[in-house]
Order: sequence, then structure tokens, then C-alpha cells
Amino acid sequence: MQKSLHQSFSVSFEYPVYFTRGLFSPGHTLLAEHLAGLSAPRPARCLVVLDDGLLACHPSLASDIQAYMQAHPGLELAGECLVVPGGEAAKNDRQWADLLLEAVEQRGIDRHAYLIALGGGAVLDMAGFAAAVAHRGVRHIRVPTTVLAQNDSGVGVKNGINAFGKKNFTGAFAPPTAVFNDSTFLSTLDPRDWRSGMAEAVKVSLIKEAAFFRWLEANAGPLNARELPAMEKLIYECARLHMEHIAGSGDPFEKGSSRPLDFGHWSAHKLEQLTRYELRHGEAVAIGLALDSWYAHLAGLLGRDEAQAILDLLQNLGFELYHPALEWEDDSGQLRIWQGLREFREHLGGRLTIMLLEAIGKGIEVHRIEEPGIRASIRKLKAMHQPAGLKSPT
Ligand SMILES: NC(=O)c1ccc[n+]([C@@H]2O[C@H](COP(=O)([O-])OP(=O)(O)OC[C@H]3O[C@@H](n4cnc5c(N)ncnc54)[C@H](O)[C@@H]3O)[C@@H](O)[C@H]2O)c1
Ligand SMILES: [Zn+2]
Repeated sequence: MQKSLHQSFSVSFEYPVYFTRGLFSPGHTLLAEHLAGLSAPRPARCLVVLDDGLLACHPSLASDIQAYMQAHPGLELAGECLVVPGGEAAKNDRQWADLLLEAVEQRGIDRHAYLIALGGGAVLDMAGFAAAVAHRGVRHIRVPTTVLAQNDSGVGVKNGINAFGKKNFTGAFAPPTAVFNDSTFLSTLDPRDWRSGMAEAVKVSLIKEAAFFRWLEANAGPLNARELPAMEKLIYECARLHMEHIAGSGDPFEKGSSRPLDFGHWSAHKLEQLTRYELRHGEAVAIGLALDSWYAHLAGLLGRDEAQAILDLLQNLGFELYHPALEWEDDSGQLRIWQGLREFREHLGGRLTIMLLEAIGKGIEVHRIEEPGIRASIRKLKAMHQPAGLKSPT
């Protein structure tokens, strides 16, 4: 005899993303009201994790947070702030996620308590993973402090750490409880990190909204000059487009074969790894966007002028569009970034699906990428990279 039951239910997720300045300044009640409101009548018990690169630039941050928590009776700090390495080091060694899990266990963080992480995308990815698996999920508050984390990684639903030499191999889909984007943190970013996150804005404009692309073209000057209002606008629009996609695409947890928000990323993830993370994520994404945009042109999908405009915008924002690792080959003479294509497909399974462009603001999915076309695209990027006079025809 054979029997079966059918199970079906859906769970809805909601979380606010706030855009503000001076989150932990004494009179700023946004965070306190949010947490106390969710936890009343109990105080909101908070374990706080800090990115050490952030802390180095904001040395009073831990004491500011402590003072803030003490000033608001609805909040309760669960011991001293934990400090973890900033950057990819936080994801490359799982001891940091374990450290957080241990702190959750020892400091009484339950499913009604909060793990609050402040830092760049890497620290948030790692802390989000720990929050997702501790007690099968404790409440997680993200306070992203880089451009990339505020406009992309911090407002989404993915987290993870690296394993087996692969990016984000171990992780979960776990939406945060709330996100607080505080633009005052951005003033201390290294120029590379200020720029790096803009690649994700270019990316999302290319696949979603031509008007945003044109805005980026028109505002490259203020963005390069580190004008905060321009960056705040970039972050808001980029976060909005990412969030709209996640909520509206019908596949927030990427169960299908398609990852439109990962346009330009198949080579970018590999370049990060090949360069031992010497290239920042956003810097690698800029190269990946340029590579795939010019490839789309060569494949007859995208007009030459539009493809050139993309390369020009990326260059105007200060990105290098070529790195020697693009041309590194394995023993069989195959481009080493090609492995990135395999890994990109393996990460999801299913049919290889790569987002390309048919216009600025309009993506198109393809299921095949030809190596000669990619090599030709690399030659174009290399030629653009060389000083005038050395350029070869493309
Ligand atoms: N989860 C997702 O959906 C998603 C999306 C995109 C990228 N990511 C991941 O995000 C990571 C990259 O994040 P990132 O670009 O924010 O870089 P990052 O996290 O590597 O941080 C870059 C550097 O900035 C420092 N830093 C952080 N805030 C600072 C501040 N306010 N002032 C001065 N220094 C500061 C950090 O210590 C670090 O040294 C990658 O691991 C990438 O895979 C995840
Ligand atoms: Zn990215």
C-alpha cells in the first residue's frame, strides 16, 4: 500500500530598511524605539559584533554603543561588543562564525534576542550566517557601514562564509529583522571601498532601470568627489532596486536557475578568489560587468554605443576594467576564470543561466557563453587599460 500527505504553507517576511545619520548619537531614538517596540515588555537583549576595520576608524564606537544602550531602558547589552576582522578574512576562516555562535550560547541570546552586526559586507555575511543557524535563527539587525553593504548585501536575504576555496559555499537565506543604513560611517572609507560599492549600483541600473544609469553618468563627478548627498541617493536607489527585485521576482531564495542580480558576477567571484581577495568584491564586479557587457555587444545582443557607454561610466567612476588574472590560463590552456562559470552553475544547480544585456536597463538571460567571445572582450578591456599610444585596434 502507498500513502502520501501533501504539505504546503508559506511564510511571509517583512523588514524595514532605514536610511539615517548618527544612529548611535545620544538623541537618536530610531534604533532604541524599533528594538524596544519589538521586545516589550522585556528589554531587547543585544549581542553586538563590530568589524575591526570600522572600529579602527571610529575608536569610540564600542563605548558610544554602550552609552546608547544604557541610556535607553528598553535595551540591554549582552556583554562587551565582540570584535572580528573586517574584510574577507571574516568569511575565509570559520573560527569567526564559531566565535559568534559561542557568544550566542554563553550570553543568553535566544530567538527573541538580537545579534546586531556593524560592518562591511563580509562581516555582515558572516554574522548573518551565525544568526541564521544559532538556535535555528535569532533576530538579526544589520548596520552596514560600507557603500556595498548599504546598497546591496546588507539589504538582501543572503548570508554566508567561504569554504572549500569557494565563495559563499556555507550559508543560508535568512532575512534580517531590520537594517539601519547610517551614512555617517561612510566618511572614513578607504577610497577603494568608497568606490567599490558603486559597481553594484551600475549593475542594478543596467539590468533594471536605464534612468538610474543616466543619473549615475550625470553624477560621476560628485560621487568621485565623495559628496555624501550624491552617495546617499545612489545607495537609496540601488537598495530600492535590489529590494524590489527580491520581493517581486517570484524567487527570493533563488530556487530556480537564474540569478539576475548576479549579472557580471560569474567572473567576478572567480577573480576575487584568483587574486586572493586582493581585488575587492566591487572592483571585481566592475571588471565582470565590463567583460559581460562587451561580450553582449560582440554576441550581437547589445549596441556598440551602449556597451561603450557602460565601459566609460565604469572608468569615469574610477574602476580599472582589466586585471592580468583575466588572462591566466590553466595547464590545458583554458582561461582560469572559466572555472567561475562552472562554479556559478554548480552553486545553484540546474541549467547554466547567465544574465547579459540587450539594452541599458534591460537584461536578457542566455544559457551559453563562448570562450572566444570572452577572450575578445578581455582584449578590448586590456586595450582600454593601456596608456594611449599603445592601444591596439579592437
Ligand atoms: N549577501 C549578499 O547578498 C552579498 C552581496 C554582495 C556582496 N556580498 C559580500 O560582501 C563582501 C564585500 O563587502 P564590502 O564591499 O562591504 O567589503 P568588506 O566587508 O570586505 O569591507 C572592506 C573594508 O572596509 C572596512 N570597513 C568597513 N566599514 C568601514 C568604515 N565605515 N570605515 C572604514 N573602513 C570600514 C572593513 O574592515 C574592510 O577592511 C564580499 O564578501 C561579498 O561576497 C554579499
Ligand atoms: Zn555583488
